[in-house]
Amino acid sequence: MIDVRIGTPLSPSATKVMLLGSGELGKEVIIAFQRLGVEVIAVDRYDNAPGHQVAHRAFTIDMSDPTALLALIEAERPDFVVPEIEAIATDALGTVEERGLATVIPNARATQLTMNREGIRRLAAEELGLPTSPYAFADSLSDVQEALSRIGFPAVIKPVMSSSGKGQSVVRSDDDVSSAWDYALSGSRVDFGRVIVEGFVDFDYEITLLTVRGAEGTYFCEPIGHLQQSGDYVESWQPQPMSPTALDGARDVARKVTDALGGRGIFGVELFVKGDEVYFSEVSPRPHDTGLVTLRTQRLSEFELHARAILSLPIDTTLLFPGASAVIYGGVDAAGIVFDGVEKALEVPETDVRLFGKPESFLKRRMGVAVSTGPSVEVARERARQAAGSVRPVG
Ligand SMILES: Nc1ncnc2c1ncn2[C@@H]1O[C@H](COP(=O)(O)OP(=O)(O)OP(=O)(O)O)[C@@H](O)[C@H]1O
Ligand SMILES: [Mg+2]
Repeated sequence: MIDVRIGTPLSPSATKVMLLGSGELGKEVIIAFQRLGVEVIAVDRYDNAPGHQVAHRAFTIDMSDPTALLALIEAERPDFVVPEIEAIATDALGTVEERGLATVIPNARATQLTMNREGIRRLAAEELGLPTSPYAFADSLSDVQEALSRIGFPAVIKPVMSSSGKGQSVVRSDDDVSSAWDYALSGSRVDFGRVIVEGFVDFDYEITLLTVRGAEGTYFCEPIGHLQQSGDYVESWQPQPMSPTALDGARDVARKVTDALGGRGIFGVELFVKGDEVYFSEVSPRPHDTGLVTLRTQRLSEFELHARAILSLPIDTTLLFPGASAVIYGGVDAAGIVFDGVEKALEVPETDVRLFGKPESFLKRRMGVAVSTGPSVEVARERARQAAGSVRPVG
């Protein structure tokens, strides 16, 4: 047993955590730490981000600027630096580690490898030998065409540096290729004209396997099924039924990839499943958006599990009830919106609504989520959909 001590917030003994990114997932991680008496510093690129509103201190900086990031870490001296998003200056995290300024979660190398699709794909497929879609990297339209001549149609083209489906499209014939290339360039996080071309996996279902690396070993949550629309998740549910062979395969892939990344914390391992075959897609070294469902399904949510793993506290991934989550979108482009119909949503049995408190709404921005439980995943999904549909944001 590791003897873990937690101090008193806002005193010299405080155990301090800095969240890099303070969106809806960061907000829940912060609340989990607050409950354990940890001092929390929330950082985001805009003021009044969801996590800013529940932390001890809030900062607004450009987290992709290594100088600004390092200066803030040096000024605050947290014990743990916890990235919530990919788009941060991960080199600065390497410096933090080298200088022993703080523990980076899970570690600087994992954040570097997973922020670029090339790093994690080569690690998974080429070093670990895990099954993935066929893939190639390309830096020009002719490279893409060459890759497609080997991979074939349909295929998916994605910027190597992007998330939430940005710049990603499916190509079904030669006619689609040039617009897909242009779209990928426009959706890249940085001005970096490189894409991955992936063979389309005709999966039966896809899952997030939440995998916790604690001080005493690796733990798996029940698989989470989800539905994606234009690169964003719209619904998730837990547990996703799987054959014993597929579940074993999924755990094996998740264990290998998280062992290779190392460190402590929760990981969202994204997998495609066809029959008993499991394909690795990608991994987030942090809580996963589809895991919002665990706020009600598990004894400890993915956010509480992340906090416990970071602090080297005991892990318990017990599922209590089948459940589901459904996303509440902004529906309007406006600041300071109000939400009608919350009352109606909360009349749905076994249902909760979380509104993230984002200062500004966009048509397709995730502003909240409905989370339901029930006697079965089917009932829970119906409840969550109904509740999410009852909430109406108005500008
Ligand atoms: N090779 C593929 N074959 C079939 N479907 C795919 C493939 N790649 C991606 N998809 C679909 O697109 C979704 C988003 O892809 P991916 O996870 O790679 O992008 P992302 O931008 O990182 O999304 P997020 O950040 O939301 O996880 C997947 O969850 C899956 O539904
Ligand atoms: Mg993904």
